[in-house]
Amino acid sequence: MTTVRRVGVVGAGTMGSGIAIVTARAGIETVVREVSPERVQEGRKRVEAFFDGGVKRGKLSPTEKDEHHGRFRWVTQDSDLAECDVVVEAIWENLDAKKELFGRLNDVCPPETIFVSNTSTLSITAMAAGSGRPDRVVGMHFCNPAPLMKLVELSRALQTSDEAFERARAFGEQLGKVLVSTKDTPGFIVNLFLIPFENDCIRALEAGLGTVEDIDTAIKLGLGYPMGTFELLDVVGLDIHYEVSMSLYRELHDHRFAPPPLVSKMIEAGYLGRKAGRGFYTYEAAGVFGA
Ligand SMILES: NC(=O)c1ccc[n+]([C@@H]2O[C@H](COP(=O)([O-])OP(=O)(O)OC[C@H]3O[C@@H](n4cnc5c(N)ncnc54)[C@H](O)[C@@H]3O)[C@@H](O)[C@H]2O)c1
Repeated sequence: MTTVRRVGVVGAGTMGSGIAIVTARAGIETVVREVSPERVQEGRKRVEAFFDGGVKRGKLSPTEKDEHHGRFRWVTQDSDLAECDVVVEAIWENLDAKKELFGRLNDVCPPETIFVSNTSTLSITAMAAGSGRPDRVVGMHFCNPAPLMKLVELSRALQTSDEAFERARAFGEQLGKVLVSTKDTPGFIVNLFLIPFENDCIRALEAGLGTVEDIDTAIKLGLGYPMGTFELLDVVGLDIHYEVSMSLYRELHDHRFAPPPLVSKMIEAGYLGRKAGRGFYTYEAAGVFGA
């Protein structure tokens, strides 16, 4: 299987910047495309904060940091993705936007380029249908935070060829990830279990079962989870949790996926989680990776 030499990452928010860190760290040239110079700047800051944190904690040498940074190119045009072997999209969770993006990239990228979506809930099959290259579209659901979490859920559209699927698997292995294959269904494996559980925890908080700290401590020490639910929701972002919950609720018509009222209230207040400096917890500084 040919190794991937250059990757395009579209969107440099929470996930896109995390995925770009993973690809650059794996020695792959990484072209990150955002919608504006301002968004490029924000994504860049997230990446710098992550690598600076690594140097501060002694996990990365200053030379390695410079090497990683040297693999990045930050761009605002589709045409800059022309020579990528793989393009990973991590833009808003919106099917039309993702279809439109793949359709545009189909005119720019060579035929062998694989298009990967990091969607949490949307149909890879529908995206493939709008892409102009349906046999070369694959779902790769990275977990958040992508630089730290090992798992990637690999899912194929009805139209995905065996060759493209295996190339996506080899790409995931090149990144050092552990891959599981899932059907192209809403939420794949992780979010199908996680979202109702998180919503149950939020409903329990609304009902006064315990404080944020009580519930998180019970989940960590009683269930052995590495993070409390509210700690995790602050990492994910309340706005993203709302979108993902609603998307699953619309698809599956199961009330356990419906986001509880507290989620909307927190979004209205701007308490989006770590990225806003405040969510269920308060943080000294806003930042996705807590750096
Ligand atoms: N946040 C999570 O925990 C998580 C986990 C796994 C997967 N996902 C999925 O990853 C995707 C991105 O989520 P996120 O949390 O990073 O969102 P985010 O809001 O943090 O970032 C999205 C970024 O995409 C950019 N963008 C939007 N349209 C674009 C376009 N056409 N071209 C280039 N850039 C564009 C925006 O400017 C923004 O910076 C979604 O599909 C989401 O479901 C999220």
